[in-house]
Order: sequence, then C-alpha cells, then structure tokens
Amino acid sequence: MMNKVQVTDKTYWVGKTDFRQVPFHRLVLEKGTTYNAYFLDTEKPTLIDTVDMMFAGEFVRDLPEIIDPAKLKYIVVNHVEPDHAGAVGALIVFATNATIVTTQKGKEMLAGMYRIQSRKFLVVKDGDTLDIGGKTLQFFETPYLHTEETMITYCLEDKVLYPCDLFSTHIANNELFNDLAPADITEDFKGYYQLIMHPHRSYVRKMLEKLATLDIRMIAPAHGYILRANVNKYINLYDEMSRVKPGTRRKKALVLYSSLTGRTGKVADNIALGLTELGVEVTVANDKSSDLSSIKDLALEADAILFGSSTKYGDMTGNLEDILQEIVKLDLSNKLVAAFGSYGWSGEGIELVNDYLKISNATLVDTSYLIKSLGVDNVQLPLRIQFTPDEDTKARCAEAGRIIGELLISA
Ligand code: FEO
Repeated sequence: MMNKVQVTDKTYWVGKTDFRQVPFHRLVLEKGTTYNAYFLDTEKPTLIDTVDMMFAGEFVRDLPEIIDPAKLKYIVVNHVEPDHAGAVGALIVFATNATIVTTQKGKEMLAGMYRIQSRKFLVVKDGDTLDIGGKTLQFFETPYLHTEETMITYCLEDKVLYPCDLFSTHIANNELFNDLAPADITEDFKGYYQLIMHPHRSYVRKMLEKLATLDIRMIAPAHGYILRANVNKYINLYDEMSRVKPGTRRKKALVLYSSLTGRTGKVADNIALGLTELGVEVTVANDKSSDLSSIKDLALEADAILFGSSTKYGDMTGNLEDILQEIVKLDLSNKLVAAFGSYGWSGEGIELVNDYLKISNATLVDTSYLIKSLGVDNVQLPLRIQFTPDEDTKARCAEAGRIIGELLISA
C-alpha cells in the first residue's frame, strides 16, 4: 500500500520507511532511516525524488493508488544515489510521458545507469525555475553535497525546500514531522551532517549563501523528519557546524617542486591558488630556491606537503630525489602528502615521487584516498598534467588544491 501523508497544499509524502539497521558508508544506521519522496498534485503532476532501490518494485507497484504514472509530467531527481533515484529506472517504464528534471551531470549518470538516454530530460542550472501548473519550482546546483550531480529544489509558492540529503537525519519513524518526534533529533541531525556533509564544508558554505536569498518555511529532506518547526534552528546549525571555528590555527601547506621547463612550476602555482582559496597558508618553493635545512623546517611546519617533479629520461628532475630521501625520514604523521607534475611522455618522475611518499609515515592523498574519504573522483592524484597547462588543466590543478584544502580544514 502506498503511504501518502499531506505535507502542504497539494503536496504529499510518498516515501518508504526502513526500520532495518541499514549498512551505510561503512557504518550501520542503528535507527534505520526513511527515503522521502514527494508528490506534488498540480496541473503538471510532479514527483520529487523516489526511494531506495530496495523498495523500487513496491513503489512502482503502489504509485497508481495516487497517480497514474503515465500522467506524471515531471520527475525531479535531486541526487542520483540509489537511495533516492533507485526507483527511477523502474518508474520510467510506466511514466511514459514524464520528463526527468535534473542537472547535466545527473542526466549523464541516470542515462548511463538505467540506459534511458532516449527519454525526455530537462537539464536545469542554478536558479532555473519550472512552472508545474499552480506551483513553481526553483533549482539550485549544490555540487559535492554530497556528490557531484546534486541539486536542491525550492517551491516558491509553498516556501518549502526539498534539499534531498541535506538537512536529513537517519531515523526511521512514523511521525514524519519534527514537531511530532518523540525525542529531540538534534544530535542525530548533527551526526548526519558530520558524516556526510562536513567533508564538503566549503560547498556547504556556498549552499547556505544561496539559501539566504530564500524564504524557507519548511524543509522536506530525503531522510528522516520533515522540518516544519524551528526551521531556522536547523539552517543555523549547518551554518555553525560549517564555519571555521574562531581561534582555529590556520592550516599550512608546502608546495615543493622541481621544474625542467617551468611547466611543473605552473602546476604548483595553480595548486597553490586552490589551497589559498580555502584559506590555507601556502609556501611554494622549488628545489633550487631553498636549501635542504629550510625545506625540512617548512615541511615540519606544514599540515600538507605536495611534491612535484618534471620527468626527464624516465626520472624525476633536479635534486628533488635528494630532498625526498631526507624528507621521508622525518616524522610526517598527521600530515597529508601528494604528488604532481607536468610531463611529456609517460611522467615517470611523478610516479617515483609518489613511491617515496608511500614510504613516509604521512597520509598519502591519492585518487583512492579521495574516493574513500570524500566520495569524489573528479580529481586524480597524483596530479599528472601533460605538456603546458592550459585553462582547463589549470582549473584541474586548482581543484586539486581545493580538495586538499578541504581535507585540511575539515580535519
Ligand atoms: Fe541519501 Fe547520498 O544518499
């Protein structure tokens, strides 16, 4: 049976409640969770998100109790992870007239995941609006909150925010609204934020800037309670938790490189730009500009050390190897290290730098580490830039700097 609970005018919760202790990001959700989907019964009937793939069959079987799927005009997909878009593949078989509303990246992921390239998509960008017949939806891109394709949806008339994972709690419940919860949910709400959103703290700040322009009366997230009481309290909690705490020591990074032609130096400079954007104090040095003793001092002061090398005849260049041999003997525990470089053919120098970093006692930030710690794969580390950095590759370098800055300030 389809559970249908009125949320506001012509708007219904049509989600699923999961009382199981669900495995989640290498934890177990002791209190279970909910997968909140919303049906807006307007002139152009619209579904905002679906449910976990475990419930996809049930969802699609029961949906006709409230709407003939063929009459659905829009399916808004805020986030493609299978606990929200898990029923899209099954639903689209029956929702033959529906247009899927999502970001460009969301479209690419859904099309690949469910082989629905030929279906109608409406790709929305930051601030776009959509008239669904009696209500207007506005969309805001929220990349990396917590995956690349994510967006949030706001209903202008109802002043309801549908932020998907943002502002969620993992608590299976039957009450649905926070003012009906039998216990205070604040700690669960904070715990969810710390686990899922805080690693992307700088993106939370950007999202909050967007929300500041909206009049939000209710937050209808994708997990746990709908926040209709004390809405500002929960927005303020995100604001507080995502701020760099006053008195926090400013993090430091050393970007040290050896450059044959100046290209690896450009990579270093652009990585430094990304780190600086995140408020990290950066020292950029090359193997010729500093003596070993000064470099050791800088390395010991730094919270992150990035080593870059050009490649010549299959090896790193300059005296970087001499420096690395000494640096890896230092106590680098609690520091992040990563490798980068510009190259022409195979870029062996970069890999050799990375091999040295593996034998240090620092935390090596590489692609695997980023996937496991942040759930992102848009930055590849070691950062390998072939030939002269152009505008696109400079942006990649800056993004690598930002990601490492993100790790530093979220630690
Ligand atoms: Fe609730 Fe990112 O999934």
